[in-house]
Amino acid sequence: MLNVTHIRSDFPIFSDKPNLVYLDSTATSLKPRVVIEKLREYYEKYSANVFRGIYGISEKATEEYEETRQIVADFINAKSPDEVIFTRNTTESLNLLAYSLGQQIIEKNDEVVTTIEEHHSNFVPWQQLAAENGAVFKIIDITTDGNLNLGKNSSLEGIVTKKTKILTLTYISNVLGNINPIKEIARQAKKINPKIVVIVDAAQAVPHIKVDVQDLGCDFIAFSAHKMLGPTGLGVLWGRYDLLESMLPFNFGGEMIESVEADKTLFKSPPYKFEAGTPHIAGVIALKESIHYLEKLGWENVEAHEKELTNYALRKMAYELGKKVKVLGPSYPNHKGIIAFTFEPYHPHDIAQIFSDENICIRAGHHCAMPVHTRLGVNASCRMSFYIYNDKTDIDKAILALKQVEKVLG
Ligand code: ALA
Repeated sequence: MLNVTHIRSDFPIFSDKPNLVYLDSTATSLKPRVVIEKLREYYEKYSANVFRGIYGISEKATEEYEETRQIVADFINAKSPDEVIFTRNTTESLNLLAYSLGQQIIEKNDEVVTTIEEHHSNFVPWQQLAAENGAVFKIIDITTDGNLNLGKNSSLEGIVTKKTKILTLTYISNVLGNINPIKEIARQAKKINPKIVVIVDAAQAVPHIKVDVQDLGCDFIAFSAHKMLGPTGLGVLWGRYDLLESMLPFNFGGEMIESVEADKTLFKSPPYKFEAGTPHIAGVIALKESIHYLEKLGWENVEAHEKELTNYALRKMAYELGKKVKVLGPSYPNHKGIIAFTFEPYHPHDIAQIFSDENICIRAGHHCAMPVHTRLGVNASCRMSFYIYNDKTDIDKAILALKQVEKVLG
């Protein structure tokens, strides 16, 4: 199990704010000292550009940058570091796909399938792509218990068809907290249509569970560094190399070209074809430290810790507040450390404000996932989410704050 006291001592924010109760890691995680120090190391010791300088500090920066690409590839079990592209965030990774892949393969009457529980960044780009190209935009619904409705025997029959060119879905919903059986979904989808491209928004998965892209059998995954103890402004897109090779560049500019003439340009091979301009060098270099940190803790321990906190929170909320608090999403155990809830008649923003007065950070609103809120008949919810630096006392404080809401607003 995790030693939370020890972990907290690795996060400078807790020295600055010892009473902070941070329950918003789904929005962004806190950063350990090793990551902050690595950012600093780059800026203080070798802050040159990558690939461009034939001198020592540029070579050092390039070496550190490319070493992270290999570490990311190993971390998600990619076949090669050339399948790892650095972007700005999950949103950019998914938009890159909608443009570079989608515009190339989606034609009139094709189908693009997504789900009702997506974050806007894995919903809107595909909705727009389908509309622009005259394709059918299909949305997989959820069941009454808050899991994806994958049809009879989870076979995807009648949902994915031979006309479906893209199936794109989240691994773990940032609202419902449910974990989707991606391996089985990819297998079923490819059984129906072997040419389908399966894309996974893994932003809420990669920080919390072991992700093995080869085992999943999907074609692309997208995730963000800042949700997994890493720097903001940095995302990853992993894709099957043959597909990456066939795709259009997303941005044109420096370091992504082989040659430029007046009437034509030849592009580099992936991943460089998709990394135009000076990248987030410091961020990439520091990302390796967040990966080392997570791996040192051990996935089994991280998962067991989050499971225990989720189970404790769901049970204690039900015990202390009964039916007044309604949790969105499935019941334990298919519920990862993300608990979105309503507490009527109180407005989520008022609740979050009272939590803030108690030094507790939660998110309130639609969490960039309006379709699933509309589907559940609510405009907004509050959301608590847990990570490696949380413990049961954080949950106890959150439940006391809920009681405070009743006192203040009741
Ligand atoms: N996608 C992040 C969230 O759910 C920002 O809060």
